[in-house]
Amino acid sequence: MNSLPHVIILLGAPGSGKGTQAALIQERLHLPHISTGDILRNQIKQKTDLGKQAKECIDQGHLVPDPLILDMVFKRLSEPDCAKGYILDGVPRTIPQAEALDTFFTSSPLIINFSLPKELILERLSLRISCSQCGQPYHRLYSPPKQPEVCDRCQGPLIQRPDDSQEVILKRLEIYSLQTEPLLKFYSERHRFYTIDCSQKNKEQIYTELVSFF
Ligand code: AP5
Ligand code: MG
Repeated sequence: MNSLPHVIILLGAPGSGKGTQAALIQERLHLPHISTGDILRNQIKQKTDLGKQAKECIDQGHLVPDPLILDMVFKRLSEPDCAKGYILDGVPRTIPQAEALDTFFTSSPLIINFSLPKELILERLSLRISCSQCGQPYHRLYSPPKQPEVCDRCQGPLIQRPDDSQEVILKRLEIYSLQTEPLLKFYSERHRFYTIDCSQKNKEQIYTELVSFF
């Protein structure tokens, strides 16, 4: 094992398992899990100005504009719990976001890319339920909660995310191909970069492969 990474970036299409693995790595490394999707959904719940702007984009499967995301992320990364490192889930998602973060990092990040074909993404997202309080994802067949409709971690109620309708999932996948996939080349040319084929593996097998990169 190399020295443990301080900054881990989880890349991958919607539904590829970023949030599921981030929760597992967080427990192991004791680094904060920064999910931009979860932060934005909290802002929507609190009806802040950012939440109102984000809701329009998220509901349609579009990305929230880069300046809003970068401002939000840099504020979060400046909090004391991020001083020793962090796990980024859902950010960066565009080349300008990646370039801005690269100038911010003080050590080289480790990038893990989750690869999953579209049919499996649709299957996973259509049966996903997520905690409305902490964001923890579950799957009705593959990863059900211990008690029906209740989060194992925080006992919050589980809901289907509004952006997990078939129409919005397809739009999110289209936006991913156009705006986020170019990051694979960007990172493979700059930093330690690994791809995991997530199609035939359960979450424990993926986790085992992922930690072998540390
Ligand atoms: P965000 O919340 O980041 O959503 P996403 O990227 O679309 O990814 P998901 O959370 O849907 O999937 P995931 O990869 O976390 O998969 P999960 O672990 O849940 O972003 C939402 C929106 O916010 C965006 O569309 C955008 O509008 C906006 N936004 C956020 N960040 C932004 C940014 N940086 N810039 C601009 N806009 C931004 O797993 C999926 C399912 O599969 C679950 O049911 C899970 O239980 C199951 N599962 C996981 N692993 C396995 C396995 N191995 N086998 C079987 N089932 C599995
Ligand atoms: Mg997620």
